[in-house]
Amino acid sequence: MKWENPLYNTLSWSGEIDNRQEKEKAAKTVSKKVSNGDIIGVGSGSTSLLALEAIGRRVREEAMEVKAIPTSKEAALNCAYFGVPTTTLTDERPSWGFDGADEVDGERNLIKGRGGALLAEKLVMASSPLTYILVDSRKFVKKLGEKSSVPIEVDPRAIHLVETELIKSFHVESVQLRMAVSKDGPVITESGNVIFDVKFQNLNHKMEYEVKAIPGVVETGLFLGYSVEILTS
Ligand code: 5RP
Repeated sequence: MKWENPLYNTLSWSGEIDNRQEKEKAAKTVSKKVSNGDIIGVGSGSTSLLALEAIGRRVREEAMEVKAIPTSKEAALNCAYFGVPTTTLTDERPSWGFDGADEVDGERNLIKGRGGALLAEKLVMASSPLTYILVDSRKFVKKLGEKSSVPIEVDPRAIHLVETELIKSFHVESVQLRMAVSKDGPVITESGNVIFDVKFQNLNHKMEYEVKAIPGVVETGLFLGYSVEILTS
């Protein structure tokens, strides 16, 4: 099959990716899971990009018919770039999905959202019977929250309320509003919200529900108890 995508010929897609070799191995493994007719949830972040690249190669070379449900505009553009057609969660349910993670514990619970796509990533993961989590060795922790902050997506009108409640009701080391790289304002998510990166002193699973009970909290980066399989290098 001759693949004609002007984007592919004119743009160079992936820049610097840390731990690239390890991420590429997990990406290759997940690309072998694809079957004709699959509807695949596609995560955001650098490991998901590499996985999509490997899947796109198979789809083109083997003329496979698959569809992707991207978890961000970035992932949607990557699907276009690699020639994988897309659908939406409103129209179809995923047969399975793949995504990266920032931390993984021994019970396959995750912290996600460094890339800011946590809301769509959780919706797609919760809709999918199985999600492959692609991680390099640095992502494994004994206890969730050991290294990473927990991203919390918040309606911008509630920033003062949520910050006050987090400090009052939880033992937090820090609560930081995620700022744009340019530092001229906060990061705004695709759903028009802001993100707090919160370092909890002693993270436990109950906090997922307790934090979400604060008015204005839209989603958290704690992904607990989902049907996931960890793929690593
Ligand atoms: C984006 C995410 C990513 O999956 C997570 O940050 C891992 O990223 P990478 O694969 O680049 O290490 O949750 O919201």
